[in-house]
Amino acid sequence: MNINSLARIFWLSTLYLLSGCQTENNPYATWSIYKGDSESSSYSSLDQINQMNVHRLQVAWTFYPDDTEQAAGYGKYECNPIVIDGVMYLTSAAHLLYAIDAATGTMIWTYDPFEGGKGGGINRGVTYWEDGEDKRVLFTAKNYLYAIDATNGRTIAEFGTNGKVNLNFHQGETGEAWVIPTSPGIIYQDLIIMGSEVSELYGAAPGHIRAYNVKSGALEWTFHTIPHPGEPGYETWPPDAWKYVGGANNWGGMSLDNQRGIVYVPLGSPTYDFYGADRQGKNLFGNSIVALNAATGSLVWHFQTVHHDLWDYDLPAPANLVTIHQNGNRIDAVALPTKIGYLFMFDRVTGVPVFTVEERPVPASKIPGEVSWPTQPFPTKPKPYARQSMSVEDINQYSQESYDSLLSRFRNFRNEGPFTPPDPAGTLMVPGTRGGSEWGGAAFDPGTGVLYLNSNESPEISTVQAMNRSDQREDLSMYDLGKQFYDNFCAGCHGVDRKGILPDNPSLLDIGSRMSESDILNKINLGSGRMPGFGEMLKGNKDEILAFLLERQKDVIVERNISDSDSAADYKNITAYSYFRDAAGRPALKPPWGTLNAINLNTGEYEWSIPLGNYPEFQQPDGPETGTPNYGGPVVTAGGIVLIGATADGKFRAFAADTGKKLWETPLPGNGYASPATYMIGNKQYVVISVTGGKDSASGVLAFTLPD
Ligand code: HEC
Repeated sequence: MNINSLARIFWLSTLYLLSGCQTENNPYATWSIYKGDSESSSYSSLDQINQMNVHRLQVAWTFYPDDTEQAAGYGKYECNPIVIDGVMYLTSAAHLLYAIDAATGTMIWTYDPFEGGKGGGINRGVTYWEDGEDKRVLFTAKNYLYAIDATNGRTIAEFGTNGKVNLNFHQGETGEAWVIPTSPGIIYQDLIIMGSEVSELYGAAPGHIRAYNVKSGALEWTFHTIPHPGEPGYETWPPDAWKYVGGANNWGGMSLDNQRGIVYVPLGSPTYDFYGADRQGKNLFGNSIVALNAATGSLVWHFQTVHHDLWDYDLPAPANLVTIHQNGNRIDAVALPTKIGYLFMFDRVTGVPVFTVEERPVPASKIPGEVSWPTQPFPTKPKPYARQSMSVEDINQYSQESYDSLLSRFRNFRNEGPFTPPDPAGTLMVPGTRGGSEWGGAAFDPGTGVLYLNSNESPEISTVQAMNRSDQREDLSMYDLGKQFYDNFCAGCHGVDRKGILPDNPSLLDIGSRMSESDILNKINLGSGRMPGFGEMLKGNKDEILAFLLERQKDVIVERNISDSDSAADYKNITAYSYFRDAAGRPALKPPWGTLNAINLNTGEYEWSIPLGNYPEFQQPDGPETGTPNYGGPVVTAGGIVLIGATADGKFRAFAADTGKKLWETPLPGNGYASPATYMIGNKQYVVISVTGGKDSASGVLAFTLPD
């Protein structure tokens, strides 16, 4: 037995005594909040399923909602369900709300916010609130926040307007904008604090944080993540930036210190993601974690992890609120995962870094007008959990032809280490925009002080070039205009020839035979999976993009009088989100392509780090597993196990928390691109995970338990 196990037993017995021996009072025995609890621990004190028996897990039930038609083509299904009094609340891949029996998977009620129509995008879960007999599920679909009666699935009429609040209002300068949250809000007393997903393009809404009254739906406070005149941080922007810059939004969820009344909000980058000549300065509170007074929304402290972001290094996940021990001192801290692969840690109250953070010089931009920030912050501990650079030796050899072509492309990139700015020649981004960490974040074992986090290793290419504009030309056809829009915003992923960039980005050739016009527009408007929604951008270009995609109106000449004076829109990233891969779609970087890491937060040292996921076809004989891209976080339990799906190989796995040894894996009917949840009903512990359907399978939820 090692120190960790001893510490865990000590911790558990303390909990047991404190809780008067009842699991109901044990904060870690339930799963009533997204990621387990408001501290985003993703930890469970349940230990019926443990290191000894986890290999015996079997499917207890499955839940496949009867809305697959509505869900068709919606991409990843990322829901982390919650369980209250034996009832599981979840959203389906189509964003309908369900209450099901958590022991059997039998449906109790459903609520369809679209009345049979389509939703879309991503939804990671719901929020529960109760006051006596008043029990509510709060969830978002498109741009609405709904309050639903948890007992019967009916809307609560007194909330907002007939049970819903339009999140597009109270936003931006005009008071109206395109806002679609992806992660659930968090409850503090009678408030639900909301982040948002906004477009990442020019014209995006600002990501202000808003708190609504759970009973009435009234807006109680707003924190401007892009400060208005007179507010702290305003001086880090050009004077009028708050009127036209969007983003700096919280799309990955937040965490809350209930006792102190502080909510911790990690924020994304300001728009446009890859070019910032129109937003010179540090750009607070972009890419910052802000600690806000949860009752009033006022700023307690902040820390910016990327100054003047040019890489779309959004803070992707809720921070873990942790307690650590250093030199005999107990520190309540915040552990913040990043896409860059560094874990930042701060004192929860003061925001002072736990391990020293150094501002180090980084390469400068070569694009006219762009003033990149000369330094970026690097924590001195823990070491990064994703590779920070790629050299010739890191190119994977599949065949001579593949290697030669990768090498010649590699030599042409701008590649000067972390934070090399985007470049017209193409910059190699290591890590890429998908991390390091993604929205699954980390799991923290309070008994041992060890944090578990999965990470991606997928360099991308960022090529920022002057935009092809139609302002000066009046003689274009509908088709030509559509092509221009396509070249500017779609070709980076779907290819200039529309053949797609496989395996991730599908071909759009012949799309008219597979999708209706309205489904195509819906897809472009809302996005899905890795495809961003174009919302605002699409508005004036619907007919044009359809003309191009459906090969029509080549001789319908359009007279346009465009007076778009927004000069910043002159630049765009033509290869945004493209992985560095060879012609066959194989990663250019040597494996591992995904990892699972255990970091002792007391010391900042790694306990272990292993590949997560496997592509057997690329594994060397007797070599380590390759790791795969991974989306969705881990759960750690008092049974000494780390449970995680997330991988692109469609498996669900359990590892020993103390050693990283793989104890169990099982194939899922699709990809488990979601964080698991675990809970107890009667005498049985269950583990559930949402599974994204493939071509021939639907998206649904799988529950596992031990045989009787
Ligand atoms: C960041 C990469 C990216 C960009 C930019 C992007 N797409 Fe996509 N697109 C995807 C991915 C990935 C999918 C598949 C996702 C899914 O089906 O959930 C997709 C799917 C689609 C589909 C559905 C295809 C099918 O067969 O189901 C259409 C239509 C589409 N995109 C059109 C566009 C258009 C038009 C644009 C530009 C306005 C665009 N996309 C920009 C990545 C992108």
